[in-house]
Amino acid sequence: MSTQIERFEDPGLPEHLHRKADTDPKAAKRAEQQVAILFLLSAVGTVGTIASYIWVHPQVYLYIPILGSTNVQQACIGLGLTLATLTIGLGAIQWAKKLMPDVEQVQERHEFRSSDKDRDDLTKTVENRVEETGIARRPLIKRTLGLALGLVGLSPLVLLRDLGPMPGKYLDTTDWTAGTRLMLDPANTPIRPEDLEVGAVAQVLPELPAGTERTLENIGKDAVLLIRLRPEDFNLDPERLSWTYNGIIAFSKICTHMGCAVALYEQQTHHLLCPCHQSTFDVTRAAKVIFGPAARPLPQLAITVDANGYLVAKQPFTVPIGPSFWERNSKNG
Ligand code: FES
Repeated sequence: MSTQIERFEDPGLPEHLHRKADTDPKAAKRAEQQVAILFLLSAVGTVGTIASYIWVHPQVYLYIPILGSTNVQQACIGLGLTLATLTIGLGAIQWAKKLMPDVEQVQERHEFRSSDKDRDDLTKTVENRVEETGIARRPLIKRTLGLALGLVGLSPLVLLRDLGPMPGKYLDTTDWTAGTRLMLDPANTPIRPEDLEVGAVAQVLPELPAGTERTLENIGKDAVLLIRLRPEDFNLDPERLSWTYNGIIAFSKICTHMGCAVALYEQQTHHLLCPCHQSTFDVTRAAKVIFGPAARPLPQLAITVDANGYLVAKQPFTVPIGPSFWERNSKNG
């Protein structure tokens, strides 16, 4: 129940100061216009967002010094949404602060503690009910019930195992070692550089020792994307360039954001896209992140050919594959 301040002789509050908009009609009008302008800006932001989606071509990129190659449509949509949501919030704040009713109220508080009689009654009721169950006379039931209740909470802990292996160790190693052949997936055949044309993409898995079974878990973490570019398309430092072979470059397929499979390759722009949250990696620059929430590049696998001309790994991954999380540093991959 709320009561007007006048009801209390000494409410202990400082004198209420009225806002300018409460006493000056011109100030109120100005505040109203400010709110309206902010709401109008929000409408402009929404219209701009929709217009960008419809009319800006999704493949247009612009070089912006700090951001690098930037997708113009995504940038316009981002700016439009920011303007739309920010100004609608600011408008609402301005409206509440300057124009909505400004009345101080004092609410009387009642004591939360129950009366002594109610507390005694409750205690007696509980004691009576416990007495009626007869548990005090049946210590066997009392002890086994205690044991059952104590243990029942452990089951969910055991079931946690079904969520999969602990990420900390699991993603630190893969089956890629120096000299491991790259096997086309799903054909499971070795691959030569000439099998891939410029612009082609292939998924490969490591050749496993005879008798070793490929598990679903291993397929997930070992999957590598092979992409063939023209060697002059690369913009890599000498070390990373030496990890490629005749224009073929290899990256872990697991997104460094949250572990989805990076599956979409744009041949024109040489961009790899993760379908989950649109992280975009530039293949020509060692899978550098150019858009989206991923915090580091896709780890690159160094490759070469063996004596028979088949593509092989030069060495294991030099950084952990998969997402960066609290147990792991976000090193550049
Ligand atoms: S999992 Fe790839 S962007 Fe989120």
